[in-house]
Amino acid sequence: MPVDILVGTQWGDEGKGKLIDVLTRDVDMVVRFQGGNNAGHTVEIGENRYVLHLIPSGIFRKGVKCVIGNGVVADPVALQDEMLKVTECGFDVSELELSSRTHLIFEYHKRMDQVNERSAAVKIGTTGRGIGPAYTDKMRRVGLRAIDLLDTEKLAVRFREEAAYYNKILASCGAETVDIEAELTKVLAAAAYLAPHVANSTYTVNDAVDAGKNVLFEGAQGALLDIDHGTYPFVTSSNTVSGGACTGSGIPPQAVRHVWGVLKAYTTRVGEGPFPTELFDNDGEQLRQIGREFGATTGRPRRCGWFDAVAARYACMVDGIDKLAVTKLDCLDGFDKVAICTGYEINGKVTDRFPASLDELNAARPVYEWHEGWKQDISEARTWEDLPENAQKYLKRCAELVRSEIAIISVGPRRDQTFSVEK
Ligand code: GDP
Ligand code: IMO
Ligand code: MG
Repeated sequence: MPVDILVGTQWGDEGKGKLIDVLTRDVDMVVRFQGGNNAGHTVEIGENRYVLHLIPSGIFRKGVKCVIGNGVVADPVALQDEMLKVTECGFDVSELELSSRTHLIFEYHKRMDQVNERSAAVKIGTTGRGIGPAYTDKMRRVGLRAIDLLDTEKLAVRFREEAAYYNKILASCGAETVDIEAELTKVLAAAAYLAPHVANSTYTVNDAVDAGKNVLFEGAQGALLDIDHGTYPFVTSSNTVSGGACTGSGIPPQAVRHVWGVLKAYTTRVGEGPFPTELFDNDGEQLRQIGREFGATTGRPRRCGWFDAVAARYACMVDGIDKLAVTKLDCLDGFDKVAICTGYEINGKVTDRFPASLDELNAARPVYEWHEGWKQDISEARTWEDLPENAQKYLKRCAELVRSEIAIISVGPRRDQTFSVEK
């Protein structure tokens, strides 16, 4: 039953793309199950750096079947562009599958995303990719799905109807409306390109599971951005936690073997919302520069802070993480001391539980435990024993606090800068 799920355990950008690429050495299929092209998953191979948004990060390994599951929202024009780019780089996308149940994002969703950001009482700092509006249409039961790309006559009718509906709203907000016919032309071109890839993927994935194939589910974003479990309303619009893999692909919960949690050795966040361990000083700037913490999708500088064990333990609990992959440990090499947040002080009381209340999260003052740094370049470490003692101590403490076990450590962006921790 070799079905594993890999998810981010913080606010995204933990290094999921790199880990998926590394793990797909031994995998037959990689499945995306939620989110859309708000994701930016970086994979470095040799001198080349690729950023994927919708295509699963298994695409760089020959023979690995890549599936975009029903829980994803896919912008057909953006997907076509991405497939063409990946092809230009010399990789084969011919076997990529798009679930016929996947909901579609169109230009009017992107415009609505921007309008919402401008006019909403709460600015989320979205990626502007139309994610929220597309999931809204799905829940309102008016969305178009990948299967609709196969009947272009009906597609044109429905697209015109929906675009006209949104144009009225856009106009009433004083926003630029969509050029319906110009957009439809792009959509129809994308439909023709994507049609051979549209399939009833629920069967593709379940057939692979039944045949005992190694299937890996690739999460996007992170647990703290989950629509139910994250820092609502400063979240994305999908279930980013491991449970989303079942609803977002159609596999049953019993099929799952391991849940991998990717954990950055410190914390980052892009966009608005509470972030108790955020640093506004030189340490924060050092993390941003050394960790190259600039968004892979929007280029925005990421907010940086110390490792938050309260938030990460909560995420690992909800995800059921039984294997941790700790990334970017090398980015802490230069610090004399490193901090771990073990609790929040909220209105005079200390708790190690992650609050549901935004007011409490905003009031939370981190309680830190300080550890001696290791002041040594660890990017060439390839075993646990290669790590300096202080780095080992730091990792052991993080794992203890989040109540899970470290299985992989990453000490640089490249494939080879990764090693397993032997038991
Ligand atoms: P994802 O969204 O979780 O796939 O992560 P991103 O690709 O958005 O951001 C992670 C960034 O860190 C990318 O630029 C990776 O190349 C890089 N990265 C991944 N693992 C490591 C690591 O262990 N050390 C360093 N220095 N960089 C890493
Ligand atoms: P990966 O998969 C980090 C954030 C946005 C914003 C919020 C809602 O690369 O880890 P949305 O466009 O989804 O409606 O924006 O979620 N966000 C991410 N932050 N990594 C991501 O993806 C993200 N995808 C969305 O910045 O705060
Ligand atoms: Mg990313």
